[in-house]
Amino acid sequence: MKTRMVLLVGLGLLVAGCGRKAEVRELSIVPEPVFQVQKEGTYTLHGSPKLSVVGLGQNSATVKYIMKTLRQARMRPKLVATSQNSDVELVLYDTVNPELGDEGYLLEVRSTGITLSANSEHGIFYAFQTLLQMLPPDVMGTVYSAVTLPECTVLDYPRFEWRGVHLDVSRHFFPVKFVKKYLDVMARYKMNKFHFHLTDDHGWRLPSERYPLLNTVGSWRVDRDSSPWGQADPPREGERTSYGGFYSREELGEIIRYAEERGIEVIPEVELPGHCAALLAAYPQLSCDGKGSEVATGPCWPSPVVCAGNDSTVEVLKRILDEVCDIFPSRYIHIGGDEAFKDAWRQCPRCQQRIRQEHLADEEQLQSWLIAQVQAHLAERGKTIIGWDEIMGLKGTSWGMDATVNARNELLGDDAVIMSWRGLKPGMEAARAGRKVIMCPTEYCYLDYYQADKRWQPASIGGLITLRKAYEFNPAPMGTNLHVEANILGGQCNLWTEYINTPQHAEYMLLPRMLAISESLWSPRERKDWARFRRKVEEQKERLRDAGYNYCEGSFTPQFEARRVDEKTMNIAISTEVPNTYIFYTTDMSEPTRESAIYLGPINLSRGTHIKILPLYKDIERDSVYEFVIK
Ligand code: ACM
Ligand code: ZN
Repeated sequence: MKTRMVLLVGLGLLVAGCGRKAEVRELSIVPEPVFQVQKEGTYTLHGSPKLSVVGLGQNSATVKYIMKTLRQARMRPKLVATSQNSDVELVLYDTVNPELGDEGYLLEVRSTGITLSANSEHGIFYAFQTLLQMLPPDVMGTVYSAVTLPECTVLDYPRFEWRGVHLDVSRHFFPVKFVKKYLDVMARYKMNKFHFHLTDDHGWRLPSERYPLLNTVGSWRVDRDSSPWGQADPPREGERTSYGGFYSREELGEIIRYAEERGIEVIPEVELPGHCAALLAAYPQLSCDGKGSEVATGPCWPSPVVCAGNDSTVEVLKRILDEVCDIFPSRYIHIGGDEAFKDAWRQCPRCQQRIRQEHLADEEQLQSWLIAQVQAHLAERGKTIIGWDEIMGLKGTSWGMDATVNARNELLGDDAVIMSWRGLKPGMEAARAGRKVIMCPTEYCYLDYYQADKRWQPASIGGLITLRKAYEFNPAPMGTNLHVEANILGGQCNLWTEYINTPQHAEYMLLPRMLAISESLWSPRERKDWARFRRKVEEQKERLRDAGYNYCEGSFTPQFEARRVDEKTMNIAISTEVPNTYIFYTTDMSEPTRESAIYLGPINLSRGTHIKILPLYKDIERDSVYEFVIK
C-alpha cells in the first residue's frame, strides 16, 4: 500500500509560550519502517504526558530511559497506574508476536492515545525512537506545550540482526562522555552493536592488572598531533610519551551499562597477531626478535606482529583475553587478525619450529593456528570470536586487498564470525562456506574516507564515500542465495581515527552517513528509496543539530545526466546529492558567482561547451567551482 504520512505539529502548538505555529511536516523516520499508514485524525500530546506500562516494570531500564529522554525533550512526563487515561501506553506482549521478532514493534497513534507495543524491551525502545522522530526536530532545544500527531500505525522490525558501528580509540583516544554520546546517536537510528577497537599500534586502551606495562607504556605515545598524521615523525630516543590514556574497569562498566540501556552490545576488539606495536612496546619479549616496538606516532607499516612460535605469547594473549572476558559480558570478542605481515615469522626460528611441529603448510596457517588457540580458549569462557576476513587465511602467501581467502580453512573453528572489510567478496565466500558474516566493505562502510570534495573537507585518510554511496550499501546483494543470505548477520560502518582527533570531527565523519548505513541494515530492501532518504536527511540534520551533534552537509559535487538532442547538442540535467542546492553556472569560461545564470531545469548545450558550476547551499559558497566539458 502506498501511503504518505503527514505529521501535524503545527495545529494547536505553542512554542515556549509565544504561540508560534509550526508547519505541517511529512513523517520522516530513519531508518524507514517496514510499514506505516496515516489515518484521518490526530492526537495531541501535551507537555506533561502521562505514561502507563503493561507487562514491564515501571523501573525497567527502558521505562527509565523513556522518562529521562522525555525530560530532555523538555516535557514533564508522569507515570500513572492505569492505561485508562494515559497518553502513552507501553505494552509488552504476554504471548510473543512472531512477526515482530525480538526487536520489532507496533506503534499506534489513535485519537484516544498512543500505544507502543513489542515482544521485548528492545522493541519498546525502538518504538519510542520512532515516536521521538514524530516530534518536532527541535524538540530537545525547545519547550513545546503540546504537539499534535497524526493518527497512524507503524509496524516495524529490522532486516538484519547485526547493525554495527565501530570506533577506533587507539589512533586517537576519546573520553567516556563522548563514547556515550556516540552510543546515544547509534540508538536513535536503531544501531545495536558497538565495535570498540581498543588496541592497535598507536595505543592500548584496555586496563590490565596482570600486565601493568600495557598501561604505563602501551597506552602512551609521543604527541605528534601538531603534524598531519601522514607526516608525523617516528618517536625519537628519550622523547616524552604524553598522548594517550586508557579506560578504567569502572569506566568500561559504565559504557557497557549505558549501551545495554540502549539495546546495544559492546564488542571489544583486541588486535592480534598484527597491529601490536603498543603491546610490543610494553612487552618486547613477545616479538620474534625480542626487540619489540615503540607505540607508533603516525603511519606504522608494516605493523609489527607478535611471535607465534613463542609459548609465552600464546599464554599472555590468553591471560589478556581473560581480563577482557571479566570486563565485557558480550557474547562476542573481536580478535582482529587483519594486515598481519608475516615477514618476521619467516625469519624467526621459533615460528618456523612451530610450523614444523604443528605440521602447518606455511605462515598463513601459522596465523590460523594462533587464532584457533585463542578461539578455543575463549570458547571455554562461552565466547564466540569475530575476526577480520584474513583470519580465514589467504590462499598462497599473497597479501593485500585482492588476496583470496581460504574460507574452508579447517584450522579455524566453524563458529568464528567473519568481518568482511576487503570488499563483499571474502564475506560472500565465507557465507557460502557456511560461516556467519558481518559485512563492512571499505567501498561503502569506511566512514574515515572523504564524504565530499576534499577541497572543502578536513584532511582524511583518502577514498570517497558520499552519503549516496553509503546508502547503496547492501550486505546481501541482489541474487544472493537465501541459504547464503541467512549466514549474513548484517553489517556495520567503521570509524578509524588516524585523521580524527576530536569528538566534533568524529561526529562530522559519522553523520549523516551512519543514517544511510542504518537504513541499509534495518529497512527492507524494497523500502529503500534514495530520493526520499535524501529529503529525510535534511530533517534529520535539524534533529542532530538540536541534539548537539556535528555533521557534514553532504556532497555538492554536480552530477550530470546527459541526453542526446542532435549531432551537436546534448540536453543536460544537473543535480547534487543535497536537496535545495542552488546551482549557478557559466558557459563562457568566466568564473561563476551567485550573479551567474541559475539552473532551474535541464539545459541544451553544444558539445565542446565548458560549463563551470558553483553550487550554493544555505548561502555558503564552498571552495569549489566545478568545470566540465560537454562531450
Ligand atoms: C582494517 O581496516 N584494516 C580492518
Ligand atoms: Zn616468531
